[in-house]
Amino acid sequence: MKKIICEDALSAAQIAADVFERQVKEKPACVLGLATGSTPVRLYNELVSRCTAGRIDFSRVRTFNLDEYYPIKPEHRQSYSAFMNEHLFSKVKFASTHLLSGEASDPHEECARYDAEIEAAGGIDLQLLGLGHNGHIGFNEPAVSYSMGSYLVDLTEDTLKANSRFFGENEPQPTQSLTMGIGSIFKARKILLLITGEGKADITKKLFDGMLHTDVPACFILLHPNVTVVIDKAAAAKL
Ligand code: F6R
Repeated sequence: MKKIICEDALSAAQIAADVFERQVKEKPACVLGLATGSTPVRLYNELVSRCTAGRIDFSRVRTFNLDEYYPIKPEHRQSYSAFMNEHLFSKVKFASTHLLSGEASDPHEECARYDAEIEAAGGIDLQLLGLGHNGHIGFNEPAVSYSMGSYLVDLTEDTLKANSRFFGENEPQPTQSLTMGIGSIFKARKILLLITGEGKADITKKLFDGMLHTDVPACFILLHPNVTVVIDKAAAAKL
């Protein structure tokens, strides 16, 4: 594991963008695994700038997102589909972009279809992850067992509370999501975990305390043979 501690969230985004740039230069037709949430926004801005400046060409790249609320329509402003369009897909040309469908009639079938689609694309070369306050990655919430493939998950109270900031007061918030499983994430050839902000200091401390906490899903990811963790000083404050 490579652990990089940066001055602030902006330099963390730039270092993460360097990892993406190297990946795309090394394999122009690569497959990227993408995440949503507040953490990757600066990274996506940086990727858009580098693409606009002609530094990175994403035109042969295919992308797969980690997760999507369920049920949700793609045009809902809080869907992860809308998030990706707003921050990246409307600004950068990719060969193709893929998300789990929050409006699939059979969520289990949709998960199996998505896993098969990733497999058919040759698997994910570089998977980006953020870290939940409770240690979740994707929407793999703390549990006693974890899914090998994509699945339908009930969100925990913690996660619902953390994400309620994105929903209006009277706006219904989905209580389930479709997510790649820990096993699907582990299949990526490289993993980039990005952690920023003082709100992540406690969970970052637990993640790196030398124990494999089974109630911190992100701990499993540290066992991956090619993982880079980029942390800003605020999140690393208690290390
Ligand atoms: C989003 C995702 C989540 C977030 C995590 C952190 O696709 O997979 O695991 O990465 O909830 O969210 P932020 O970055 O908003 O703190």
